Amino acid sequence: MTDPEILRIESILEKYLPAEEGFQKKLIEAMNYSFLAGGKRLRPRLMEEMYRLLGGEEACVEPFMAALEMIHTYSLVHDDLPAMDNDLLRRGKPTTWSVYGEDFGILAGDGLLTFAFETAAGSFDLTAFPDRAGRALSVLANKAGIYGMAGGQAVDVELTGRPVSARQLDFIYRLKTGALIEAALMIGAILAGADDELCRKAQQLGLAVGLAFQVRDDILDVTSTEEELGKPIGSDEKNQKTTYVTLYGIEAAQKKVHVLTQEAQQLLTELAGGRHAEVLEGMIRSLEFRKY
Ligand code: IPE
Ligand code: IPE
Ligand code: MG
Ligand code: MG
Ligand code: MG
Repeated sequence: MTDPEILRIESILEKYLPAEEGFQKKLIEAMNYSFLAGGKRLRPRLMEEMYRLLGGEEACVEPFMAALEMIHTYSLVHDDLPAMDNDLLRRGKPTTWSVYGEDFGILAGDGLLTFAFETAAGSFDLTAFPDRAGRALSVLANKAGIYGMAGGQAVDVELTGRPVSARQLDFIYRLKTGALIEAALMIGAILAGADDELCRKAQQLGLAVGLAFQVRDDILDVTSTEEELGKPIGSDEKNQKTTYVTLYGIEAAQKKVHVLTQEAQQLLTELAGGRHAEVLEGMIRSLEFRKY
């Protein structure tokens, strides 16, 4: 059964999806296919919670929630392509490229990334603070691109099958996975009117949560099942990836998840400054031993 909280988030996200019509209908179907296949919706949930925690009350956060989930979905669609991880299952369904073809897998990613910015730009019409929406847009672009997710994926691909140092691995994780989680928390904070100091704290929190999230992902790749995960297990070994598990072993990797989770809780307490942060606290706690 799907969590009612995820259904509530999905009802917000779905309002922003493009209509499946026109001569390019197949492209839009391929975009919506992967977006609607499921997923934990972690990034939009984190964004919304940070926005509310810091007192945000406008609807302007919604287009950014949808935009970030579009960018995350594009990252998964491209990550699964034959030229990258060459995987066949995602979010419990056949991967976009395996249903629509490799060409449409590439184009669906292009479409999602670009439509994300068109969507986020709609935030300007929903806020009395357009300067905040402008700053948020800049963070979204930075964390998606060469200094964020795409940059991390590039180093991940380049070092595949080659020796990877601990520093290089942390760099990859910070960018390929951490960056979009940092973006979620930073954008939530910025739209709520956070100053530079608070925004920096939101970024640090995102970094800790993001690293913990990717290390746990590495563990699940060897310990989970395809049914539970909704994506193939053993993908990292198949692709000769260096991961936290190959470098340090499962036990030390889970210890790292624990330490990062503690660090994240501490950062959240500081950032919240006495405000009620139970929802975010609970989300961070649940990620430590997440099963999918
Ligand atoms: C998978 O992200 C890719 C990583 C960054 C590890 P999620 O585990 O958040 O994937 P969905 O959105 O729930 O499918
Ligand atoms: C990729 O890491 C993270 C992305 C930016 C998509 P993985 O390749 O480990 O992600 P999964 O396990 O396929 O979701
Ligand atoms: Mg990958
Ligand atoms: Mg992958
Ligand atoms: Mg993985």
